[in-house]
Amino acid sequence: MKVVHTSAVLKHALAAHNKVAFVPTMGNFHDGHLTLVELAKQQADCVVVSIFVNPLQFDSSADLEQYPRTLEADCKKLEAIGATIVFAPSVEEMYPDFDGTSLNQTMIITPPPMASILCGASRPGHFSGVATIVAKLFNLVQPDVAVFGKKDFQQLAIIRELVKQFNFAIEIIAGNIVREASGLAMSSRNGHFTAQQKTQAEQLNQALKSAIAGAQTTPTTFMNIEKQTTEALTKQGWEVDYISIRSALTLKPALEDDEQLVILGAATLANIRLIDNIEFCAKPLN
Ligand code: PAJ
Repeated sequence: MKVVHTSAVLKHALAAHNKVAFVPTMGNFHDGHLTLVELAKQQADCVVVSIFVNPLQFDSSADLEQYPRTLEADCKKLEAIGATIVFAPSVEEMYPDFDGTSLNQTMIITPPPMASILCGASRPGHFSGVATIVAKLFNLVQPDVAVFGKKDFQQLAIIRELVKQFNFAIEIIAGNIVREASGLAMSSRNGHFTAQQKTQAEQLNQALKSAIAGAQTTPTTFMNIEKQTTEALTKQGWEVDYISIRSALTLKPALEDDEQLVILGAATLANIRLIDNIEFCAKPLN
C-alpha cells in the first residue's frame, strides 16, 4: 500500500492501474468506513482511499480543530484490509490559494435545492463544501467507481446529483449503514460519549424504528408520526433538529403514494449531534 500526500505522486501511483475504485473519507476509521473499502475492493484492482479533513465543509473552526486526526492508525487498518493507495493531502495541496488563514477557494459548487433542507438547513454552506471537495478529489483520482455510505443519506443524494449535473463518468455505489449491535449507527462522534450516554444514544435509532412501525400500521399522517417521534425523543432529553419522512428518491416530503421512503433524524444528546436514517416501504412487506 502506498501513502501519498501530493497530487503529482498520486498521479504517478495511479498510472499502473486499470480500474480504480475510490472511497473519500475524513479518516478516524470505524467499521462503517472499512466496509466501504471492502465494497470498493469488489469493484476494481486499485482501491484509493482519501483521508482529508475538509475545512470548507465545517461550520465552526472549533469543530474543525477538534476533528480527530489519526492518520497512522487509519493507514494500519487500510493496510490490513488491502487498500492500494491512501491519498492524504495537506490543506495547501487541496486548496492552492490557501494563505495560512483563508482557503481562498473562491470558486465553489452551489449544490441543488435538496442541500438546503434537513442537515443543510442547520448547516449552511456544509454541502457546498462537500460537493466542492468531492469534485476536486474526483478530478485528482479520476476513479471509475466511488463508494459512499448511506449513513449520510442526504450527502449521498447530493453526490449523485453532482455526478449527473457535472458529467462525471463515475459509478456511485452506496454502502449500507454499519451499526453497533445495539442499533446505534457507527460514527466517530460516538467516541465522545460516556458509556451511559452511549446507551442512551441508542434511543435515536429505536425512535426511527418505532416511527416506521407506526407509519406502516397506524392510519395516521406522516406529519403526526414525525411530531410524536420528536416529542418522544425530546422527553428523553434529546434536542431534536429534525425527524422527517421523505421520498428516498428525491428527499421531498413523503406523499401518501410514495413507495420508497426514508425516515431521517438529526438530534443532539450531551452536546453531540447524531444523524441516522432508515429506508422503508410505505406498507409492511410480506
Ligand atoms: P466521513 O464522515 O469520514 O465519511 C466517509 C464515508 O463513510 C461517507 O461516505 C460516510 O457516509 C461513510 N460512513 C460513515 N459512517 C458510516 C456508517 N456507520 N456506515 C456506513 N458508512 C458510513 O462523509 C465524509 O467523510 C465527507 O463529507 C467526505 C465525503 C469525505 C467529503 O469531505
